This record gives sequence, structure tokens and C-alpha cells, in this order.
Amino acid sequence: MDLSVQVGPLHLRNPLIAASGCFGYGLEYADVVDLSSLGAIAVKGLFLGERDGHPPPRIVETPSGMLKAIGLQGIGVRRFVREKLPSLRERGAVVIVNICGSTVDEYVELARILSGEEGVAALELNISCPNVKEGGLTFGCNLDATFAVVSAVRRATTLPIIPKLTPNVTDIASFARASEDAGADAVSLVNTFLAMAIDVETRRPKLSNVVGGLSGPAIRPIAVRMVYDCWRAVKIPVIGMGGIAGARDVIEFMIAGATAVQVGTASFVDPFIWGKLEAGIRGYLERHDLARVADLIGSLRLERPIDNGPAAGCA
Ligand SMILES: Cc1cc2nc3c(=O)[nH]c(=O)nc-3n(C[C@H](O)[C@H](O)[C@H](O)COP(=O)(O)O)c2cc1C
Repeated sequence: MDLSVQVGPLHLRNPLIAASGCFGYGLEYADVVDLSSLGAIAVKGLFLGERDGHPPPRIVETPSGMLKAIGLQGIGVRRFVREKLPSLRERGAVVIVNICGSTVDEYVELARILSGEEGVAALELNISCPNVKEGGLTFGCNLDATFAVVSAVRRATTLPIIPKLTPNVTDIASFARASEDAGADAVSLVNTFLAMAIDVETRRPKLSNVVGGLSGPAIRPIAVRMVYDCWRAVKIPVIGMGGIAGARDVIEFMIAGATAVQVGTASFVDPFIWGKLEAGIRGYLERHDLARVADLIGSLRLERPIDNGPAAGCA
């Protein structure tokens, strides 16, 4: 049974990637998870410098979801290269570095620094963080800015680049297209949905940042739809995520068009989820008499062409 997938130039042993921000720098989990058994690890978003992030409370539970505003706390790229990358390399992890900047030049500088380091498999461009004032959504919610940052990073590196798209736009497929036109090797989606929760007794926001990003099973059907939209819009591979909590969810995203998937919030609930996901995928392939997981990609069966005009789903 072949679980491997090809994400542009990146060959992954299986389609399971730890989502950025939900798996630290990977090493935090090294005692409980064989890091080399994952398809890849997307490490916590890195700026050039260190950041403290927002004050607590930064995380709130919501129905079937998790609302958070961490504010991209992190150790900065240079400490990452010095303190984390060598151990990740030793452990055979396939490392995708999630990078964040406030300006195009910062993304370019990050790409340059990381291009010179052995053990970086790809760059995920975080142009979709809802929790920082500078950068983030400034790039991810504007087609020209998306094109500008992706093409500038494209010129700066030969590493595979994967813009991570925000769901907080009307037409996510147009952002996938802008990324493809700018030379991206793949796109990943979705980052979290802008959301808010209020303590009605105190009438105070539950997060110190007032608004945050929603993840977990609550967002899954929207994320699946967005993956399907992007898969139909571009030729480059789509990496899907949003609320995956079991093998059936992985398979759903792949049928919708994802070449690989990322798992975030669910790995907080169950750090041992990876083996279970892999076993579940194997079981599904066996039951459906499939030899390769890649055969599932974009394999949705339709009775008739879909109508996805403005009124789709409104009746
Ligand atoms: C606590 C937390 C921190 C996150 N940090 C990052 C980050 O640094 N960079 C990024 O691109 N996405 C970040 N994300 C978004 C996740 O990578 C993922 O896109 C999102 O949570 C949806 O997947 P899920 O429902 O499986 O968690 C974070 C999510 C959570 C819950």
C-alpha cells in the first residue's frame, strides 16, 4: 500500500503534516511521536526576531472549536536555525518552515536565511494570520499583495514555496490563482476564521486580543468547500486543513482535492493521533481496494455538474 504523495517537488512518505502552531517546533513532541513517521512538520510561524505574542487569555474553547489569539509568539528564525533545526535534521523530520513578515522584504530575508540551511524542505508563507496587526492578513486579503509577496520570495529561493491562504475572503480560489501565477509550488489552506467570544456575565471578551482565529471541527465543512474551490481553480497541489480529527476527515479533504493535509487542533486533544490516522487511511484503502492514497486526490463523484454561482447553497 503506497501512502506517499507528491506536493510539487516535495515527496512525502504520507499525506499527514503537523499544522503550524499546533506542534511547536516539532521537538516538543519528539518523546511521543517519531518525527520521521510524519509526512512533514510545519513548525510554528517564525518572524526574523523573537516575539512574546499576546498576553493571556489566548485560548478559549468553543462548541467543536478552539478560538485563539497567540500573536505569533516565537523564537525568531536565527534561534530556530541554531537551536532546533539540527535536532530536527538528526531525527529525519521533513521540515516545512512557516514564515511571517510585516513587509515583503522581511519575507524575502527569511527565505534567504532559510535557503542556506540544510534540512529545510519547504517554506510555508503565512500570509493569513488573523492575530497580528502587521503583515498577515494585509497580504493574504489582497490579491496584488499576495502576488507581490509570493513572487518576491520566488525570486529569492529555490526551495518549494507554499503560501498559506486565509479563509477570511470572499473568493479564496482567486488567491490560490494569484499564488500559482506568482510561482508558488503549492498552496495550503485554511488558516483560522476570524471569530470572537464574549463572557456574558462580565461582558468582557474572552480573549485579551478581543478577536481571534477559530479552528477545529467547527470549521471543517467550510474548509473542505474551500479546498474543493481551490483544487478546481489551480494546477498546483493543494494542502488542506481545518478540523481534521480522524482518518475519514483526511480522506474527505483528499477526495475534495487535497494532495496532503495538515492536522492542528486535534493533535492538542490527542498527541498520539498520527498512528491512528495512518491506520485509518490504510483500512479505508483496503476496504476500497485501492493501492495508492494518491488515487483519492480530487476523486469526488458527481451526478451532475455543480452550480457554484452566487446563489449556490442559498436555497
Ligand atoms: C494555537 C494555534 C496556533 C497556530 N499558529 C499558527 C502559526 O504560527 N502559523 C500558521 O500559519 N498557522 C497557525 N495556526 C493555524 C493552524 O496551522 C491551522 O491552519 C488551523 O488551526 C486549522 O487547522 P485545525 O482545525 O486542524 O487546527 C495556529 C492554530 C492554532 C490553533
